[in-house]
Amino acid sequence: MAGFIGGVFSRDKGRMRTLQNIIVTGGAGFIGSNFIRFLFRNKDFKGMIVNVDKLTYAGNPLNLVDIEEVYGNKRYFFEKMDICNHAKIKELFKKYSVDGVVHFAAESHVDRSIFGPGDFINTNILGTFNLLEAAREVWKDRNDVLFHHVSTDEVFGSLGKDGFFYETTAYDPRSPYAASKASSDHLVNAYRHTYGLPCTVSNCSNNYGPYQFPEKMMPLMILNMMDEKRLPVYGDGKNIRDWLFVEDHCSAVWLILKKGSVGETYNIGGENEWQNIELVELMCEKMAQIKGKDKDYFKKLITFVKDRPGHDRRYAINCDKIKRDLGWRQEVGFDRGIDFTMHWYINNKEWVESIKSGDYRKWIELNYGGRERTSR
Ligand code: NAD
Ligand code: TYD
Repeated sequence: MAGFIGGVFSRDKGRMRTLQNIIVTGGAGFIGSNFIRFLFRNKDFKGMIVNVDKLTYAGNPLNLVDIEEVYGNKRYFFEKMDICNHAKIKELFKKYSVDGVVHFAAESHVDRSIFGPGDFINTNILGTFNLLEAAREVWKDRNDVLFHHVSTDEVFGSLGKDGFFYETTAYDPRSPYAASKASSDHLVNAYRHTYGLPCTVSNCSNNYGPYQFPEKMMPLMILNMMDEKRLPVYGDGKNIRDWLFVEDHCSAVWLILKKGSVGETYNIGGENEWQNIELVELMCEKMAQIKGKDKDYFKKLITFVKDRPGHDRRYAINCDKIKRDLGWRQEVGFDRGIDFTMHWYINNKEWVESIKSGDYRKWIELNYGGRERTSR
């Protein structure tokens, strides 16, 4: 395991990297907003965060109103900006004396990538390239900095009944989303090898938890159950995903920032595989319990629908490396995580309604006028 001390790259076990001024891209999205909240709750973190987000349909500043209230313009700064804008991104690196980047910003929904891959190519590939270029130009040969790239297990393709994705598994992306993320991973590794840019990469399995845009399976099913709408299960429902509570992903990324070895890739996962249909049935039973209904009440809403084109059959991740090298563990068991998540969507009516009605977009228009903004 390696760490930076006084700008010198060392391989001493247990040494910590201390990043002070961190750009979090995509911080208004699902995982990014959870990550920012996680950092501000963490006594270990004493620095400042610049949230760089374009506020696409998936970006919602309401996800961070609590953080804005307490830390806004002190240790938390929001910059509405497209990561593809080279001049502005470079300016930000200088303006905030950035020494760390945690790169979440992406187009992230597989179904959308199938219907319109253009934005995925722009943001996920060109946007990442642009950030890397800015980091390379501004940081030059500094080695007391870190660019952490957040990626997905989908770059590894699809598994059969057996086996796992390892850090060494060959890439085999099969959707435009996965291909765009794979491409960005390759660029990050290339910048490390070619220019010596201090980079790390993580590939994580499916996250669930609060603030997830309800196009993704879990929040979509919860909201549909609440409205007693049909629960669309793709194909035969036997596709398998590995599920991780979002805060456990955040703690893994934080550990990588503190003590991950430059040039390394870390797999992160829940070791928690579920067939989609089994998971939807479990959620139906939990909702029935919460609403005081018969156990099978919500299951009648389950509707098998046309399969997603090229639907990957199974994802399963081996995350021994991050456990062994960085001491990471999943803290939130699935039963607790799923209960918490279901109650969160049920109780946060205002958030849910603002998304359903599209009112959060009006809020953005009102506060940010749809323009890029480089300072308040
Ligand atoms: P999300 O769609 O909820 O959020 C993405 C954020 O990026 C949004 O706030 C959006 O406004 C912003 N964004 C998009 N294009 C941008 C651009 N051009 N410039 C600036 N900001 C832009 O996504 P998420 O689920 O939070 O995923 C975050 C990252 O984690 C992604 O890189 C994704 O590939 C990766 N990931 C996600 C999962 C998962 O299960 N959700 C699992 C593994 C890895
Ligand atoms: P999703 O949340 O879109 O994540 P990903 O495709 O990145 O894994 O989907 C999770 C699984 O659920 C995936 O196998 C597709 C399936 N799914 C449905 O069956 N119905 C739905 O409405 C959605 C959105 C997904």
